[in-house]
Amino acid sequence: MCGIVGYVGSRPAVDVIMGGLRRLEYRGYDSGGVALVTANGIASAKKAGKLVNLDGVLQENPLPASTTGVGHTRWATHGAPNDINAHPHLDASERIAVVHNGIIENFAVLRDELEDAGYDFVSETDSETVAHLLHRELQNRPDVTEAFRAVCRRLEGAFTLVVVDAQTPGRVLGARRNSPLVVGRGEGENFLGSDVAAFIEYTHTAIELGQDQVVEITADAVVVTDFDGQPVSTKEYTVDWDVSAAEKGGYDWFMLKEIHEQPQAIADTLLGRIGTDGRLQLDEMRLSDGELREVDKIIVIACGTSYYAGMVAKYAIEHWTRIPCEVELASEFRYRDPILDHTTLVVSISQSGETMDTLMAIRYAREQRARVLSICNTNGSTIPRESDAVIYTHAGPEIAVASTKGFLSQVVACYLLALYFAQVKGAKYGDEIQLILDELARIPQAVQQVLDNADQIHKLADRLSSNRSIMFLGRHVGYPVALEGALKLKELAYVHAEGFAAGELKHGPIAVIEDGVPVFVVVPPRARDQLQEKIVSNIQEVRARGARTIALVEEGDDTVVPYSDDVIRLPRVPTLLQPLVATVPLQLFACELATQLGHDVDQPRNLAKSVTVE
Ligand code: F6R
Repeated sequence: MCGIVGYVGSRPAVDVIMGGLRRLEYRGYDSGGVALVTANGIASAKKAGKLVNLDGVLQENPLPASTTGVGHTRWATHGAPNDINAHPHLDASERIAVVHNGIIENFAVLRDELEDAGYDFVSETDSETVAHLLHRELQNRPDVTEAFRAVCRRLEGAFTLVVVDAQTPGRVLGARRNSPLVVGRGEGENFLGSDVAAFIEYTHTAIELGQDQVVEITADAVVVTDFDGQPVSTKEYTVDWDVSAAEKGGYDWFMLKEIHEQPQAIADTLLGRIGTDGRLQLDEMRLSDGELREVDKIIVIACGTSYYAGMVAKYAIEHWTRIPCEVELASEFRYRDPILDHTTLVVSISQSGETMDTLMAIRYAREQRARVLSICNTNGSTIPRESDAVIYTHAGPEIAVASTKGFLSQVVACYLLALYFAQVKGAKYGDEIQLILDELARIPQAVQQVLDNADQIHKLADRLSSNRSIMFLGRHVGYPVALEGALKLKELAYVHAEGFAAGELKHGPIAVIEDGVPVFVVVPPRARDQLQEKIVSNIQEVRARGARTIALVEEGDDTVVPYSDDVIRLPRVPTLLQPLVATVPLQLFACELATQLGHDVDQPRNLAKSVTVE
């Protein structure tokens, strides 16, 4: 997710901002930029690529001296990662400079309105809308803070905005909704940052901005109001992290931070998907409804954790759309001579967008005249560029090698794709689709509930830390969850772990169950009555052979309690959505166990984040 820095004080703003952006580099980004308020108006510079590129631009053409400014590192959502789409965005008169993190859901409507009023857009971003809106608002309200609040009231979606106005030097404005913004309080200087890493070098005194609040900082004052201008009370706190902890948001590992970011990642992936007509819309779908109606077979291809997201997707795609769906490892796909033609849709899933196995598979599919739609978290990466259509997950950059928020947001994107097909093919009524979208909208809160119970998982990891072999069982969508739980444990804790479809137990795997072997069991919601009963029998079977059973089961289901050594409660959600809550305890478990064993959780041995070889 983007990094944001705002500064007003007496130091050279460009140095403070570039230093802050460097400390925010860990968030991942694809371009950077800075804007300063100078005696001659706004001076700005921006550049695609790493900050070293922006440094180069600033060295060649130094910006005039200034003690007020904003900076940004961008993680592309709307529009490719290039110089033009990089922030800051300026209005046409170059009076206002805006940096933005998040997604402005109603930007298409606002953009049309502004274009009708004669405003020209130079970038493809939703963020530029704010610069023009603010310019227009200033015609009616001369005070920039008031005008900015009026703009915020018009925006929907998620945003952190930081703004400077050439005609109001010495003032930096910020606002937030569903996206973080922190104020750093100094002596004769104040800061804004997307997190405290932006200013930790200068001050450890911070104020976290609440939802729907606007902040105005000058060198000597911090004034916070709501979007209507009503003052709100704020609380200062002292940050006692060092710089490296600050980068991880105070967590020990990027992985842990990313696990905790999952409610936001899911919410962001769902944002902006409903059009003004109330129908589901997918931004970069690029395939017409006619082309999608022709699709009579879907093949999902992916690797590792993304493959398990594909396995979950199959259940939703077939159930909601009645289109046959196969799921295949990308590394196997092109070597088996698959039957493909233009009515086959190949759906690739890749967090990085660079995985070579997946890339080669989609190239092969396109050679065979299949259409390719990619679900990806990295805007501008190779796989989406080589695909006919894309659905971007908006999880923000994933730094830890083991995928967590990438996985959950992929599953959400797959659900959106399935619902989109159901809409286009008429396989579901609009109100049925809406009901599922409403259930999905409740998932971030449900995931948060699981995260709030992390202590129980940590204690469990402590008790199981000497076990060298751990099993995972699931049925239906719980099966890929079991596989994912085992993969996470293998890659982080280097423990022998295997996931099985619980029905397969009796066909072989039960032979490895012996005294004390921990077995995690993902219990389907009771709505899947037959399955739920069957898995209760499976729990009894392994327990009878000495296994130590850990049941992941929905609240209110006590049927497994007599046969479980530990019960991890999951919030009640519909069956098909259960992977979104059931995976989280397994991620926490693997992370904690690896930590206790003294392993490097973020960089496990022998693994790379982006696997660019076949
Ligand atoms: C496991 C993990 C890997 C990736 C796989 C595919 O935690 O991260 O299994 O899921 O290498 O990577 P992407 O999704 O980038 O194609």
